[in-house]
Amino acid sequence: MKIFSGTSNKPLAYKIAKTLGLKLSPLEVFIFSDGEKRVRILDKVLGEDTVVVQSTSSPTDENYMELFFIVDGLKRSGAKSITGVLPYFGYQRQDHVFREGEAVSAKVIAQILETVGISKLIAVELHSIKIKEVFSLPVVHLSALSLFAKTIKEKGWGKDCALVSPDMGGIRRIKLMSEMLNNMPFAVIEKNRDLASGEVFADKIQGEIKKTVIIVDDMISSGETIVVAAKLLKERGAQDIIVFATHPVFSKDAPKILQDSFVKSVYVTDTIFVPKNKQFPKLKVLSVAGMIAEAIR
Ligand code: R5P
Repeated sequence: MKIFSGTSNKPLAYKIAKTLGLKLSPLEVFIFSDGEKRVRILDKVLGEDTVVVQSTSSPTDENYMELFFIVDGLKRSGAKSITGVLPYFGYQRQDHVFREGEAVSAKVIAQILETVGISKLIAVELHSIKIKEVFSLPVVHLSALSLFAKTIKEKGWGKDCALVSPDMGGIRRIKLMSEMLNNMPFAVIEKNRDLASGEVFADKIQGEIKKTVIIVDDMISSGETIVVAAKLLKERGAQDIIVFATHPVFSKDAPKILQDSFVKSVYVTDTIFVPKNKQFPKLKVLSVAGMIAEAIR
């Protein structure tokens, strides 16, 4: 088996390869002066099973194009199979038509991935379990929830503690986490987002909250969902607010508003590489390399 990495999250790709006892195979990504990329596979892959790791986080379109070219290069070089590892699957939130006239971007991406020649997809914490249905090829859907539950147990958080989903869409996730943590009580915030402005509102919580609350979400983008949730939870009596979110998308000034918020710690994973300028004191990063390596084996 040969494993390749795009440029979006090389540290994670290295860790996955190392766990598998492999080295990353060489490839060249040359950027022309106008921004176009030329990709060249620099290893022999004829008849080989191959794996490509590429997080399609921001710059999403660029990272997707690079992935498409790598897959095409592998196919033209005679690879037997090509497994796409997309620790973060860009465009996953646009998985159905919310308003008349909208494109279903996740479906378009799935069709392109299949057309270029990906034979299997490994993804982590998809926004909705239904996203698998937009693909015809096999999709291995991994989750960081067990990693989060393990960390919560190790920290000894359990007594006088409740899990919180910051929106109704996270109910399935919060119920699973509760089961993993000996039926820890959970609550759900009724969040609304203005689809035009993106502004987040929340003023109702279903369920009981405790002194310590653990917010669980699939991703943090602008950070507004978490900041609004933390403010509401603080108003309702929570003292310690800890966040676990799989994907550190961190758009806009998310790092700053999270650092300045009522939240005590923000746990994320390395599905998306967090550069130095987006790191902040409250941030802790857990690794999904082990579970991805296990899924590749
Ligand atoms: C929403 O359905 C997701 O689960 C996240 O809560 C959301 O995408 C986070 O976005 P933001 O950080 O921009 O509020």
